Amino acid sequence: MALSDFVIVILAAGKGTRLKSQFAKVLHRAGGRSLVEHVVLACKPLKARATIGVVGYQASEVSAVIEPLGVQPVMQKEQRGTGHAMLIARSAIEHLPRNTAGRSKTNGPQGLPKFAIVMPGDAPLIRTETVAALARMHRETEAAATILSAEQANPAGYGRIVRAPDGSVDAIVEDSALAEGQRGITEINSSIYAFTLEKLWPVLDRVQPANVHQELYLTDAIALLRGQGEKVLARVAADADEVLGCNTRADLARVDLIFRGRKRAALMASGVTIRMPDTVLVDPDVVAGMDTELEPGVQLLGRTRIGAGCTIRTGSILTDATLEDGVLVKPYTVISGSHLASGTQAGPFAHVRDAARMMKNSRVGNFVEVKKSVIGERVKAMHLTYLGDARVGSETNIGAGTVTCNYDGVNKHPTTIGRQVFIGSDSALVAPVRVGDGAYVGAGSIITENVPADALALARGRQVNKPGWAAARRRAMAKEATPPSKISARAPSGSKRSAGAAAARVQSSKGMATAKRRTARKRTGKKRRPQ
Ligand code: UD1
Ligand code: CA
Repeated sequence: MALSDFVIVILAAGKGTRLKSQFAKVLHRAGGRSLVEHVVLACKPLKARATIGVVGYQASEVSAVIEPLGVQPVMQKEQRGTGHAMLIARSAIEHLPRNTAGRSKTNGPQGLPKFAIVMPGDAPLIRTETVAALARMHRETEAAATILSAEQANPAGYGRIVRAPDGSVDAIVEDSALAEGQRGITEINSSIYAFTLEKLWPVLDRVQPANVHQELYLTDAIALLRGQGEKVLARVAADADEVLGCNTRADLARVDLIFRGRKRAALMASGVTIRMPDTVLVDPDVVAGMDTELEPGVQLLGRTRIGAGCTIRTGSILTDATLEDGVLVKPYTVISGSHLASGTQAGPFAHVRDAARMMKNSRVGNFVEVKKSVIGERVKAMHLTYLGDARVGSETNIGAGTVTCNYDGVNKHPTTIGRQVFIGSDSALVAPVRVGDGAYVGAGSIITENVPADALALARGRQVNKPGWAAARRRAMAKEATPPSKISARAPSGSKRSAGAAAARVQSSKGMATAKRRTARKRTGKKRRPQ
């Protein structure tokens, strides 16, 4: 589809006042990319001689997006309208490398491209085939300009196509300049055109800023071309959605919905099941294999790649994640920048992040966070655990509440856990530390030294049982709660303090408060609050 006789000009200098934003309009995002990126990507397969991007507002930010995609930015310092933008593009076009074969069928004067495709940077839904068809029609009909138009039920805000009785185009009239009789026109200007440059340049020089904004409108070139007896045609886009521009936040939302719908439709066509598709958000570069199922409220973002036969349950968010085949992601799990091998399971409520790797058939469960760690095959860490900067060997079991203490306030340190290790619940592994293959760590341990293979490590306070302590405490509390008149003898004091009295002393204020509440309840007749 090489359009070697065409230069493409993308108009992307405007601020986008109607968005009420500090960011340039074309940098706003819909369907997972910035608007201008969509436009550039739609143009790329056309293989034009060159693509020029007119930049102005936040020029360096916009250039940073388009230059790596092969677009040559040119600066429009003051944004004086779409016609002015095209005049700026002219000097860049005239400095393009010339085709040394001289003037041929595919070249204009001086070996420069003969035609231009003009694209607004804010109409991101446009498809490559639609632009290609416009270019072909323009070339074949030898028109001076060919406009891509569309029928819009609600044309407000768009320029309208005013046709001559023979069907050719007389003029484009901007919304604000419509005459009474033109208000009913529903054919709109998409702002995508093909021009024969030799014919455009002379009329563009004559465009006047005769409008409320005092701008030079590219659309005014159409009536001028007609006035010179040139042929101007319009091709109606088959899909009116393709030419939607984004001037407001509401436009952005509408365009985003259409992109998301397109992406979901493509996934479903390739064999992915999507439940309640309207609730599922998928970025454009995401791929997913056959028989993979996405439940409601799932988001697949960035460069996420999912294999075949995976299930991503409700509320899960995957960003730049790689999942091999048969992976189960349970509800409300967040996975970012990580790799899950086949047969792995994560969630519910798990967080796997920062280049974590889960090897085959490993599982992380409820409220488990895994950061920059390698989780070996068939490892289980099912509850309330943090594994950061860790390597866990195969078939190891990580008990509930295990935490790798990987950060000393300044640096991060690694934890290495061998194969077939058992880490008891509520253990803290203070890194850097190693636990050898086959070792056991007793529950509640704080491991600060390496554990040899096959050893048992216990690192917790010894338990002390004090017989009768609790009963004595209850007796002392009961005494505290009794009114002084009913006390026949005071509790022992001084050197004769018992364990019960000590406990009562600690608890006395609490005991008094409870007693007070009880009397208050009696007075008001209120029931006790259920605990
Ligand atoms: C433009 C058309 C209108 C058409 C609509 C389709 C004109 C005068 N009007 O209106 O007929 O129906 O698009 O969406 O062309 N830009 C520059 N430099 C400037 C001004 C604009 O690069 O000095 C760029 C903008 O960044 C934008 C594009 O040109 O990407 C279109 O400008 P915008 O202000 O959005 O034009 P509309 O009012 O939408
Ligand atoms: Ca616009």
